[in-house]
Amino acid sequence: MFKKLAASAVAAVMLTTGAFAAGEATGHVENIDFSFDGPFGSYDQNQLQRGLQVYTEICAACHGLQYVPIRTLGDEGGPDLPEDQVRAYAEFYEVFDPELDDFRTATENDHFPGSNLENAPDLTMMAKARAGFHGPYGLGINQLMKGMGGPEYITALLLGYTGEEKEEAGAVLYENTIFPGGWIAMAPPLYGEDVEYADGHANDLHHIAEDVSAFLMWTAEPKLVARKQAGFVGVVFLTILSVLLYLTNKRLWAPVKARYKKK
Ligand code: HEC
Repeated sequence: MFKKLAASAVAAVMLTTGAFAAGEATGHVENIDFSFDGPFGSYDQNQLQRGLQVYTEICAACHGLQYVPIRTLGDEGGPDLPEDQVRAYAEFYEVFDPELDDFRTATENDHFPGSNLENAPDLTMMAKARAGFHGPYGLGINQLMKGMGGPEYITALLLGYTGEEKEEAGAVLYENTIFPGGWIAMAPPLYGEDVEYADGHANDLHHIAEDVSAFLMWTAEPKLVARKQAGFVGVVFLTILSVLLYLTNKRLWAPVKARYKKK
């Protein structure tokens, strides 16, 4: 019995390590100091607007953001676009309206469209679905200060191409040091200077990749700032409550303590 158990345990370990070895990416995801990291972090509105531009001009050709309502582009704490710009942006898209049984121009109350390319995943939650750093080990201080590395993973992925490609079963795969397995079906979408920013911000490959990753963090967690603020208020409240309870406790037991001292 024990032998059998031991054998299956060894087999299980070998299987899992084997699976890891097969899916190993050689690259390393580096931390990036995003403005929204840390307990007091918040989104950089200009960066989100630049990221939106990158998404719209490049990624939207294949990827959708079907869970993001277009009107949230005007939200405070997010890209914070003025109302008329949000409306103008919406008109850029065509959506299918089941009531009309036809396509029509989108309004700000519609969501972004889904993916255009069948095998390109929707990007709404991607920054939360991937982790750049290892899981929740230790005290979690690193996660608190640096996050889980989702946007870092996306940046590293966009920068992780080696330039090698191969054909497999009729599909072209591109070598990428960050993508698990090392080969991805997405052609390198960015080369640097792919977009012109209206504010004249640097548009080299690194900056563009970071901007679009920050934007995708916002789509995945639009209420991040509000959540952090609520958390901070909670911590302050609990601290004050602890002090009050400590003092109350002292006060309550003071007569008892005094009696014991006398004896
Ligand atoms: C020409 C179409 C195309 C364009 C343009 C494109 N992608 Fe992709 N993307 C894909 C495909 C296809 C996949 C699926 C790859 C796979 O699973 O091998 C993918 C996968 C991804 C993934 C998921 C990787 C993972 O870990 O599973 C991310 C993140 C991503 N793309 C981000 C972007 C961003 C950001 C842009 C714009 C800068 C972009 N893509 C532009 C086709 C595209």
